[in-house]
Amino acid sequence: MKLTLKIWRQKNFDTKGSIVNYEIDNISPDMSFLEMLDVLNADLILRDEDPVSFDHDCREGICGSCSLFINGQAHGPDRRITTCQLHMRKFKDGDTIYIEPFRAKAFPVIKDLVVDRSAFDRIQQSGGYISINTSGNTQDANSIPINKDDADDAFDAATCIGCGACVATCKNSSAMLFVGAKVSQYSLLPQGQTEASRRVTNMVNQMDLEGFGNCSNTGACEVECPKGISLDNIARMNRELIRASINK
Ligand code: SF4
Ligand code: FES
Repeated sequence: MKLTLKIWRQKNFDTKGSIVNYEIDNISPDMSFLEMLDVLNADLILRDEDPVSFDHDCREGICGSCSLFINGQAHGPDRRITTCQLHMRKFKDGDTIYIEPFRAKAFPVIKDLVVDRSAFDRIQQSGGYISINTSGNTQDANSIPINKDDADDAFDAATCIGCGACVATCKNSSAMLFVGAKVSQYSLLPQGQTEASRRVTNMVNQMDLEGFGNCSNTGACEVECPKGISLDNIARMNRELIRASINK
């Protein structure tokens, strides 16, 4: 395949970025999108040019680090996958592909396509955990019966990989799908009850402090989320927050 790539290049946070054109040839439809960028970078290095910086780690859809906006869609044109799971067969020979970073005030560009998503880490640190005394014998899991539907919903919420596609795709740059998932994975389980009020209050406060926008129920986040995290989690988070404010 022969392709024209229009890639966002930006030296650092303080420098103005711009779209730069690259022509690339001999791309196999079986390559992943990131392998295609590897080919481009090998070529740029041979030409003594600065390779394009982009984030990746697992390349298996697990870590959530590969955050690219491809032709105006977070993680590209396929559904329920991350950028690293996108394959070039989704494109046609001769296509022009726009590649940009995830854009949001709370996700400043570090270089080219790499953004700083440490705001998510700080939200998680503010309450996305449970404190349990782990000394002594491990309690038998079956000694705490959990309703099957709740267990399934908690597990679904826990599949959020913190990629940030929900923020990048939301017109308000809202992080409520991410925070809703992180709150829900504990609020549905007995182990999450002790710190429930503190958790939701601190995480929502931190989300606001980081400069994320509010949710206006457009639902784009749910559509673009590679893990299919449901909007129900935002509703659950709001209920938890109201409950926490009543129980103060
Ligand atoms: S809710 Fe979905 S889109 Fe948002 S961070 Fe989690 S996995 Fe990514
Ligand atoms: S590189 Fe880990 S999810 Fe894509």
